[in-house]
Amino acid sequence: MQPMKLPGPKARALIKRDAAVISPSYPRSYPFVMDHGKGTEVWDVDGNRFLDFMAGIAVVSTGHAHPKVVQAIQEQAEKFLHISSDFYHEKWILLAEKLAEIAPFHDSAVSFMTNSGTEAVETAIKLARYHTGRSNFIGFTGAFHGRTMGAVTFTASKAKYHRGFYPLMNGVVHAPFPNPYRPILERRPGEDYGETVVRYIEEQILGPILPPEEVAGILVETIQGEGGYIVPPPGFFPALRKLCDRYDILLIVDEVQSGMGRTGKWWAIEHFHTEPDVLTIAKGIASGLPLGACIARRHIMDWERGAHGNTFGGNPIACAAALATIELIENQYMHNAAEMGQYLLQALTEMQTRHPSIGDVRGLGLMIGVEFVMDRKTKEPAEKLHERVIELAFERGLLLLGCARNVIRIAPPLSISRSEVNEGLAIFEEAVTLAEKEFGLAAPGASR
Ligand SMILES: Cc1ncc(COP(=O)(O)O)c(C=O)c1O
Repeated sequence: MQPMKLPGPKARALIKRDAAVISPSYPRSYPFVMDHGKGTEVWDVDGNRFLDFMAGIAVVSTGHAHPKVVQAIQEQAEKFLHISSDFYHEKWILLAEKLAEIAPFHDSAVSFMTNSGTEAVETAIKLARYHTGRSNFIGFTGAFHGRTMGAVTFTASKAKYHRGFYPLMNGVVHAPFPNPYRPILERRPGEDYGETVVRYIEEQILGPILPPEEVAGILVETIQGEGGYIVPPPGFFPALRKLCDRYDILLIVDEVQSGMGRTGKWWAIEHFHTEPDVLTIAKGIASGLPLGACIARRHIMDWERGAHGNTFGGNPIACAAALATIELIENQYMHNAAEMGQYLLQALTEMQTRHPSIGDVRGLGLMIGVEFVMDRKTKEPAEKLHERVIELAFERGLLLLGCARNVIRIAPPLSISRSEVNEGLAIFEEAVTLAEKEFGLAAPGASR
């Protein structure tokens, strides 16, 4: 396949203007300058076409510019754009009713609407303190929960998220996230590694570091996103639930990235047969409009009028987009995510047998991580090689995103078709083959 020369002239000119006026703190993976998109396809300002295997960081769940979502936005825009969260409107109520219907617990659910994932997490932190009257929390290494001061304290995937920002929020202790590919704790015979981590929390954190009666909540991603698309072992969440019940600690599950049907169920936590107390969501909820929510069991969201609020919460356009998105996911795309996810996982697992740099392939539904290593035995992270795979794929028309130091996340729109999956896989394998050659990793004879 002939690589494209990127960025093109129009993209280059825009990137130059951008650098003059936009904060240099944005991560910017590679020089893709969007012009328009349709479903899984996107075009840059120079007319180059790409397949989007990252959906704007797992956001455009129904694909780019789905006509039903666009129509819902247009219809709402003609009625009114905003009234503020001091008043009422029906789409906001309808959305909260729908979220209550699909929330992953049997109790009735109440939602607080936000403008982003990090604001949903801030809401959960404040709610946990308010409801329990306790001030401390447990988070996890490798976590990503956002960048506002409370959420970023829990974020622990890269040093740069904290560097220069101390002091952070008080009262957060991190436990190791159960990473089955890279376990760091010793497992007892017959113990699931997730149970090992929960035992560590009980024996090494609750008591020696934090008195349990002063712990408000445990905040955890169901599947770690930025940390490397890590799926915890099956015993983790049931054991964590029991631990929380033993000490009256709230189990706060962050599904900002893993939720909204991406794993083939509404919420990834459903795969683990565990009911959280509080759930934070955002990203895929409104196909790209800024919206998030903190959903809690009714008796937990017990704060008084005015204790927490925001100007834009429940924005009517975002709510209209979310209602259309939820209908599409429910009727078609959740099923498609499960089916295409299975297909992709199998294809990537087969690809692993042909490529020594692929150390691990894991995921649920359309949330799949491919971890690159220099050597399968030592598991030395192949940071530079994985960056090169992303670059080579971009030049060949495939948008990918990295996470952790050496993982590529596969998170396309939930509407992706089989032929698009195949097209993307072919580009992905070509990029891996070329990168392995450049880094001197011999492909023949590779085995798992
Ligand atoms: C699990 C998780 N929580 C929270 C956030 C923060 O969301 P936002 O960037 O909308 O603030 C993210 C963003 O990537 C995330 O993946």
